[in-house]
Amino acid sequence: MIPVVVRNVVTEALGVVRLVLGSEDGTDLPSFEAGAHIDIHLPSGLIRQYSLCRMQAEGQYYEIAVLKDPQSRGGSAEVHRLKIGDSLLISEPKNHFPLVDTQRHSVLIAGGIGVTPILPMAQELQKKGLSFEFHYCARSPETAAFSSALKNASFADKMHFHYSEVAGSSQMDVVNVLTPHSSNAELYICGPASFIDYVLLQAKMLGWPEDRLHREFFAAPATDENVSENTAFKVMIHSTGEVFDVESDQSIVEVLDNNGVFVAVSCESGVCGTCQTGVIGGVPDHRDVFLTNKEHAQGKLVMPCCSRSKTPVLELDL
Ligand code: FES
Repeated sequence: MIPVVVRNVVTEALGVVRLVLGSEDGTDLPSFEAGAHIDIHLPSGLIRQYSLCRMQAEGQYYEIAVLKDPQSRGGSAEVHRLKIGDSLLISEPKNHFPLVDTQRHSVLIAGGIGVTPILPMAQELQKKGLSFEFHYCARSPETAAFSSALKNASFADKMHFHYSEVAGSSQMDVVNVLTPHSSNAELYICGPASFIDYVLLQAKMLGWPEDRLHREFFAAPATDENVSENTAFKVMIHSTGEVFDVESDQSIVEVLDNNGVFVAVSCESGVCGTCQTGVIGGVPDHRDVFLTNKEHAQGKLVMPCCSRSKTPVLELDL
């Protein structure tokens, strides 16, 4: 873990605060690539993931931008209470949402605070001279973090702002945006779950291949009505042969923890990927949004913080 100090706190948009985090002694922080996030260990003990929202010229700073979400479980409100000089622990940058190494055109789509991992992608693509377009959907410029910086960025000609509550602007026409690129581009999207689900559904209907759709959720989507009722099952630890009961009201990580088997967790809602575990036997009942549909179908990985088992026993690569 890396100790950092809050070096600056800036109101970036309505309800959005941007924190500049610096190392304690002014030395450089570990480098990161576009799409990366860090875990922040908040003073209350909560651990939250936030995207590193701008590539920095100076390596001693990270920036995160956080929307105060009334639906949140306390993390965003606590971030909004942080002050200049506060000390925090953070993880090394991790990247589950990288730019794919390709020369294809990139369609970047951000919904609201979903701009945070998308902005450094635009910086990176611009720096490499690669082809891209950037669609930023928000209610208004006042609620859109970084809107004026983006308007004046070196890639301003690639920006498309879609404001739903501004006269003369309009919501993004998803079909119009996606149709010209269905066979020759990569799509990167971040934002509210329902927004991502809608855009990805349209992309699939327009023939975009699944492996060119890249997304990052901030929170797990509302529970699908079709998700089956929780039932009890057993987990087996491959390395020891131990078998534990997972009751219908318990998660796999809870049971493992109770029995001294450590699995790192962070979001505990299937979003971040921290708890990813290999599956040796059985069929997972996936409840996460981190793995792709293809990975769900393959059944070789599971997110034990939220997912369950379709078979009586799920054997884990632990
Ligand atoms: S802890 Fe985040 S996906 Fe499981």
